[in-house]
Amino acid sequence: MSAGDLVQNWVRPEIRALAAYHVQESSGLIKLDAMENPYGWPKALKQAWLERLRQVEVNRYPDPEGRELTTVLRRVMGIPEGMAMLLGNGSDEIIQIIALTLARPGRTVLSVEPGFVMYRMIATFCGMDYVGVPLRADFSLDLAALLDAIERHQPAVVFLAYPNNPTGNLFDEGELEQVIQAAPGLVVIDEAYSPFTDHSFMNRLGHFPNLVVMRTLSKLGLAGLRLGYLAGPAAWLEEFNKVRLPYNINVLTQVTAAFALTEGWPVLREQTAAIRAERARLQRALAEMPGIEPIPSEANFILVRAAPGRADAVFEGLKAGGVLVKKLHGSHILLQDCLRLTVGSPEENNRMLALLSDVA
Ligand SMILES: Cc1ncc(COP(=O)(O)O)c(C=O)c1O
Repeated sequence: MSAGDLVQNWVRPEIRALAAYHVQESSGLIKLDAMENPYGWPKALKQAWLERLRQVEVNRYPDPEGRELTTVLRRVMGIPEGMAMLLGNGSDEIIQIIALTLARPGRTVLSVEPGFVMYRMIATFCGMDYVGVPLRADFSLDLAALLDAIERHQPAVVFLAYPNNPTGNLFDEGELEQVIQAAPGLVVIDEAYSPFTDHSFMNRLGHFPNLVVMRTLSKLGLAGLRLGYLAGPAAWLEEFNKVRLPYNINVLTQVTAAFALTEGWPVLREQTAAIRAERARLQRALAEMPGIEPIPSEANFILVRAAPGRADAVFEGLKAGGVLVKKLHGSHILLQDCLRLTVGSPEENNRMLALLSDVA
């Protein structure tokens, strides 16, 4: 029997049917495709960080609970008193931990479409059903459809990104509260883009027994570290903690994240402010560009709609000019002619704008 035959016999059909999460080849290109912070660290900060790393004992296992880092996160991120915390190897891992904890055949993960693709993928990994409720054409929640789907499918967990990826908008707060109240199981408000908005559900933790808030340090400027965190009622997080693999946060990540959120914090805040300012500048420039319609964003990216039928040409034109963005055309009916542009440095954005005005 060949390996292929064995795979056919043994690998679950729903896994065989999946395409692996695809990351675009980006070498030599300006990366405006993955919502990364474009800025590095000043020399002195980098030096202080390397000094800190010298003290790390890589022969030892890391603190299994990441206690020091958790204490720093609590303070810096304003986690409400009395709420528990859980760390993940990226927030992707937290999505997986939650799904594994709640999975049973026939149980449903519910989200909105277009939304973050990992909710659906991880539901599939865990043998759960997935229901994606379409957003309205303006990317707001279709509250009636969402409440109806909740009633029909009784989801074990609802994931909602706030702001949403790939659309960049915030959903209506009151409508989200109605969803939280209607949901029979857990609701995860995914605040991956929290550094770029003043809106959050963090302060509502504890007001609803089924609400947890998930965030990541990836978009803040630490994507390479892989650190996500979940905050919420201890009763939920104690169960999730049982499913978390021991030592899931390596020692270099623990030490670096704690350093970045203390000594590096002023730099990260400055960078975040610069990205927000660039986002506003890009919004204005894109709004004036013929053939391009930007969607207002509260994240570090802007979804744009090209003229009908032009998305492929725009994507290829940008790439030929050395700028990689994310083409979303073809991935969902509501994203027809759409591309997602990560906010880069002023120089990167200028390059992107110059190319875009030629190819749009
Ligand atoms: C809404 C949302 N949630 C979670 C993530 C995953 O972030 P990470 O695993 O880097 O923490 C992303 C990344 O793109 C995202 O857009």
